Amino acid sequence: MAPKTPELLGFQITHRAMRGDVRRLARLATDLADGRQSATRARAAAIAGFVTALCHGIHHHHTMEDQVLWPVIERAAGAEVDLRDLSDDHSELDPLLAEINSQVTAFASGGDARALAVSLTRLADMLDEHIEEEERLLFPIITKYVSVADWKRVEDAVRKGGNIRVDLPRIEQYARPAELARLRRLAGPVLTVLLSLLRGGHRRRQLLVFGPLAEV
Ligand SMILES: [Fe+2]
Repeated sequence: MAPKTPELLGFQITHRAMRGDVRRLARLATDLADGRQSATRARAAAIAGFVTALCHGIHHHHTMEDQVLWPVIERAAGAEVDLRDLSDDHSELDPLLAEINSQVTAFASGGDARALAVSLTRLADMLDEHIEEEERLLFPIITKYVSVADWKRVEDAVRKGGNIRVDLPRIEQYARPAELARLRRLAGPVLTVLLSLLRGGHRRRQLLVFGPLAEV
């Protein structure tokens, strides 16, 4: 049966994956800066690849919120919600993401990880606060006022500019078993096929970035 209200699970797990991975990278960069871990050139390049992809994903996600989700919410529930604080957070994120991109490039070229560790920790703290606020404020409004068709447009826009190779295996990584089962039911067999195609490469890259003992 078609859902009567927007399905927020995909968004929720995307948020969880962003927060989780930025926090793990902040801890890793701190360990590298303090000398508790070390990086070969190949590991430093893999860390830079993952950090860059993640920053791109976060930028794209909040740009689509600004450009597609905010107008949908304002149309459906304009009087009920004030998006200014969340928009301000988005404009604070962009310069930090740009800074992290240049810091991780410097790190991959042989620099130390101190500045990167500081910025990633700041990003992790900002995202924790911002995403908690966004979900607390907006999820009930979306469920109550936004149509399933409008929500699909938002999800399609987010998916379209994303990087499936990075995004999809992380959904599998961060979803709880019951959530993953629900996503599989919603998406059909295509999700299972894509996950099996992308899983191996994702695991190899994660192993190189975080090492064999790292946990999610
Ligand atoms: Fe946001």
